[in-house]
Amino acid sequence: MQELEIQTAHGPSQVLVGRGLLADATRLVDECALPRPRSVVSNTTVGPLYGRVLATALALERCTELPDGEEHKVWPQVQGLCTEWLDQGLHRSDAVIAIGGGVVTDTVGFASSIYMRGVRWIAAPTTLLAMVDASVGGKTGVNLEHGKNLIGTFWQPSLVLVDVDTLETLPERERRAGMAEVIKSAWIGDRDLLDLIDPSRPISDPLWEELVMRTIQVKARIVEEDEREAGLRKALNLGHSLGHALEAATGYKRFLHGEAVAWGMRAVAAIAAERGLLANPWRRQLEAAIDRLEPLPPVVGMAPDRILHHLASDKKSDDSGVAWVLPSDGGVVLDQRVSIEEVQDVLETLGSSAAV
Ligand code: NAD
Ligand code: GLY
Repeated sequence: MQELEIQTAHGPSQVLVGRGLLADATRLVDECALPRPRSVVSNTTVGPLYGRVLATALALERCTELPDGEEHKVWPQVQGLCTEWLDQGLHRSDAVIAIGGGVVTDTVGFASSIYMRGVRWIAAPTTLLAMVDASVGGKTGVNLEHGKNLIGTFWQPSLVLVDVDTLETLPERERRAGMAEVIKSAWIGDRDLLDLIDPSRPISDPLWEELVMRTIQVKARIVEEDEREAGLRKALNLGHSLGHALEAATGYKRFLHGEAVAWGMRAVAAIAAERGLLANPWRRQLEAAIDRLEPLPPVVGMAPDRILHHLASDKKSDDSGVAWVLPSDGGVVLDQRVSIEEVQDVLETLGSSAAV
């Protein structure tokens, strides 16, 4: 098992990465001097796989199972959880545990941050994306009709319990999509990690633990310096401006989040190269890593206008436009303005000039 402590304004956030950790959860929670969680929350897919066993191990009667899917990452689920915790008599000194992908950890993290003005929470991520990104760093929240993650908080999990064995049941497409966030972090802070990108590597391979931990380490260093995204943390949005627009323009149906981010990283690599920020050898290294995520759903049949419309409503935009993150030879450059023409050109390059 590998351990890491992230220092945050709310105190330390402990990260444990290993195998078979869920079976040992009670001991690990005790060793971290945390109260035993009084509520296990998962979803209808992960609950039967892991959540119910975890609840039993924690001597709880049941695992709460939220409906599965991004469309259920909404306020009524948060309200429902808080009401359930009230009915159960959870106090401010209690803790809860979320086990699942980023939808579950974002929702439960948010509920825990506002229940009784904040109770401690533990994240047990079971997707690659949640292991390396969503469960680390304390961003919580749910979606509104207007867009994704529009209400939320910064509320650090006291413990992130990453049991790599759970990736065994994760559909391969989800695994490949999660790898996009690994590439993102590797690009920002650990370029050698790009050589380890291989979504088809058997989960039993010990390299998975290394890959997950090193990716978390990159994010941890950034979060320690800029927890509330005043500057440096924006780097973690590499590939996300166009990625979010692609997801929104296709009604969140064509791309998994990581797949859209992979396209977004291809796009910003092209823009950065055109601007002379990214030399060819570096561009090739980034693109080669993204190639290993293929097949990605294609970027075809989307009107550039629709993409531009969704870019304009990006959370990272202000009155002067979207603040893009562009890759550079040494890392990334933040707060870049990208013109409509550049977006149109890059969409053509990605294969989407055919408007519908
Ligand atoms: P997800 O939570 O929807 O999980 C993907 C699918 O895999 C779901 O059907 C889920 O039930 C299933 N699943 C999860 N673990 C499994 C397992 N071990 N075996 C079998 N099936 C399993 O999607 P995700 O990609 O994990 O997370 C996406 C969410 O994360 C988005 O809402 C995004 O906004 C959020 N996110 C948050 C942050 C953050 O910093 N808070 C960062 C990145 C993404
Ligand atoms: N996923 C980006 C961040 O946590 O800041």
